Amino acid sequence: MGEVLGGCDIFFGGSIVELICMERKKLIEVINVSKVYRIGGGNEFWALRNVSLDVCEREFLAIMGPSGHGKTTLMNIIGLLDKPSSGKVLIDGVDTAKLNDDQLSQLRNRKIGFVFQQYNLINRMSVLENIEVPLLLRGLPRSERVKLTVRALEMAGGEKSWLYKKPNQLSGGQQQRVAIARAIVGDPEIILADEPTGNLDTASSKIVMQTFSKLNVLGKTIVMVTHNPEVALCSKRILYIRDGRISGEEVPDPTKCSFLK
Ligand SMILES: Nc1ncnc2c1ncn2[C@@H]1O[C@H](COP(=O)(O)OP(=O)(O)OP(=O)(O)O)[C@@H](O)[C@H]1O
Ligand SMILES: [Mg+2]
Repeated sequence: MGEVLGGCDIFFGGSIVELICMERKKLIEVINVSKVYRIGGGNEFWALRNVSLDVCEREFLAIMGPSGHGKTTLMNIIGLLDKPSSGKVLIDGVDTAKLNDDQLSQLRNRKIGFVFQQYNLINRMSVLENIEVPLLLRGLPRSERVKLTVRALEMAGGEKSWLYKKPNQLSGGQQQRVAIARAIVGDPEIILADEPTGNLDTASSKIVMQTFSKLNVLGKTIVMVTHNPEVALCSKRILYIRDGRISGEEVPDPTKCSFLK
């Protein structure tokens, strides 16, 4: 009896992610990560302080917190676009601190798709050329690249007719769908999105959230920063960041997510 109760204690006393990760592999492990900027005059600014977090496969995690409190810094470190001042990041069990720049690019290319608030598309290239960028590194023939590009664009809620347009001939919501297509075209396990709906109206935000939700159902792991509580309610776990530290987490009530109705 005592043992059973003890087991229950551990079960209910564990963090949310421990419960979620019980039967799944950890895809992202952030271990004691700090990021310190030297800001002149011998002063330092701690954008992140000893942040540790795990993200398991097939999770849909939202990160919230006030402006300037470290969300983008954390996303860039998880996405291997930036390095921590101390601590480490494991992606699918691989300690990224031990990789050289080429190995980091390869890992990023295979495992991670990134979506930014400002879309980050290249206007002198067509929609097709923007989306296929992650495939170029893999040396696929053009016909295969076009096939995968069309599939990704349609999955992201876009249309084939956009392929030969330039990004600046599309609306903001359409550009974000192109950016999502670029993030998923290489079939990465992890999708990182930093305020993907930050510049979008409600209708476009809805399309983006429906795409993420669909991708999550298909097995993708999603980590998304958002300022919008309605958007966060469509995730499966919300993590709060304040002053460069994790200040709390909760599991949202899925019935409160209006974007997926
Ligand atoms: N290169 C840098 N040098 C010095 N300080 C920086 C640098 N980059 C970011 N910071 C500081 O680190 C803090 C965290 O920035 P970050 O961009 O992660 O915030 P955020 O939570 O994403 O904010 P927002 O919600 O406005 O996007 C900020 O106070 C910012 O001023
Ligand atoms: Mg930010």
